[in-house]
Order: sequence, then C-alpha cells, then structure tokens
Amino acid sequence: MIVPGSASQELAAALAAELDEPLAAVEYDWFADGETLVRVPDSAERAVVVASTVSDAEHVELLQLQDAAASRASEVVTVLPYMGYARQDEAFDPGQPVSARAMARSISTGADRVLTVNPHERSVCDFFDVPCAAVDAAGRLAEPLPALSDPLFLSPDAGAVELARTVRDAYGRGETDYFEKIRHSDTDVDVRPSDADTAGRDVVLVDDIVATGSTMSTAIEQLSDPTRVFVTCVHPMLAANARTKLATAGVEAVYGTDTIERAASAVSVAPAVAETL
Ligand code: R5P
Repeated sequence: MIVPGSASQELAAALAAELDEPLAAVEYDWFADGETLVRVPDSAERAVVVASTVSDAEHVELLQLQDAAASRASEVVTVLPYMGYARQDEAFDPGQPVSARAMARSISTGADRVLTVNPHERSVCDFFDVPCAAVDAAGRLAEPLPALSDPLFLSPDAGAVELARTVRDAYGRGETDYFEKIRHSDTDVDVRPSDADTAGRDVVLVDDIVATGSTMSTAIEQLSDPTRVFVTCVHPMLAANARTKLATAGVEAVYGTDTIERAASAVSVAPAVAETL
C-alpha cells in the first residue's frame, strides 16, 4: 500500500496508480497546541510512505507515518520526493550541525530502505543508516517545454550543469552552459555570466531547486536580449514571493515536478520512482 504524507497526496495517488497498489486512507489531525496525529487505517505486506519534508511539520508527520505504518506492514519503504535540509550537507561554520545527516538518521529509524529524488548532492544518501537510492527524474523536465528557437540550456551554477545537460538531451537539441554563482546569504546571490550568446534565443534556466528565487532572478539579470526565458527545476519550492520575483524578471513559464506540489508541478516523478521501487 501507498501511505501518503499530507503534502504529497497527488504524487502518492499517482504512484499508487502507477504500481497498481492500494492507497491508504490516512487521517491527519492537529491538536490545539499544534501537535499532529496521523492514523493509518489499512494493512498490507509492504507500506510505501511517500512524504516530502517541505517543512519541519512534515518531517515530524513523516516520523509518525513511519511508526504507524510499521504497525500495519512488515516492510516500510520511505520515499522522500523532496528531502528538507538536504542542502545543509556540511557544517559550513564551526559548531553548526550537518543537518542533512541529522534528518537522515531520524528517518532511518523508521524505514527498511529509503528513496529520494534528485537530492542536492547524491552523497546525502550516505547519511542514512539504511539503504538509500537516489532517483533521477530530471529527464522528464523537457516534457512541458514548448517548441524552442535556438535553445540554450543554462544552469545558474556549475553544480547544476549536469541537470541542464540531462534536460537538453531529453529535449533533443540545444546548447548548454553555466554561470558562476557566489552566495553571500540565502537571499543575496551574485552570478557571473557565461560566455554563451543569449541574444535572440530561447533560454531555459535549469536548477535542482528554486527556493527563494534569488539565484534564478539574479541569473536572468545577466541575460542579454533573450527572446523568451523559461525556468525549470526538479523541486519547485517557490517559497515566499519567489514566483512573483520570476514573473517580474520576465520569465515566460516555470516548470517543476510534483516532488513539491505547486501550480508549477507540470510533470510527475511517479514513473521514475515506481521503476526504482
Ligand atoms: C544551490 O546550490 C541550489 O542548487 C539552488 O541554486 C538554490 O538552492 C536555489 O535557492 P534560491 O532559489 O533561494 O536562490
């Protein structure tokens, strides 16, 4: 059975359909003091808990779902379509935690194995105490793109250039390049333009996640006379006013997957997850 987290109900339903497995009718409740309580009413041999930890509340909910699922099934597989805190994969200053490791350890306590989708770094899988596989769903990001003229697939930093290549390859044609990014804080980012000529071309900016939109909007400022600009990412977090920032920067459309359920979630990772399960 597929056990949905409250923030991943669309994806869980798509995965249940893809695998032809029943969808557990999970109940979510909240107490007046803010604490949550879930209930998994169904039983099965295997429980696949599908829950993106988009906030601390969803992380706590996931731990509860795993615990409840273990009382209903003999195997618990946890699918983390989007893993919160994955970008804090090292202590950037002395005394800081490796938050991704702390999250992974807690999730490991309730899972026989874990699957996650395009984590910021694949090495985040090593933080889990149970087997963890990373699913690559980036190829599907080419699907919602319209017909493009002389396309250029650009990543806003060197770390995402492989993603840009994957999307270009799936699209079938176009050039790829990347910018150099210097991050000063979570909303203050500098981007140095690449050598690629952007004038008169359709530019597709590709990244693993759009969170505050600072990286993307700063990158767009460096483009000179593009015809159209599209933004595509695996995880459309689009926190606070990120979507407005991108619209103001002149972005024609934003596409992402359903690892985080937003209006921009144009493609589902369900087939890629089903294949790896
Ligand atoms: C960081 O290296 C990531 O790949 C993204 O570029 C970053 O997390 C996006 O964050 P924001 O939208 O807040 O700039």
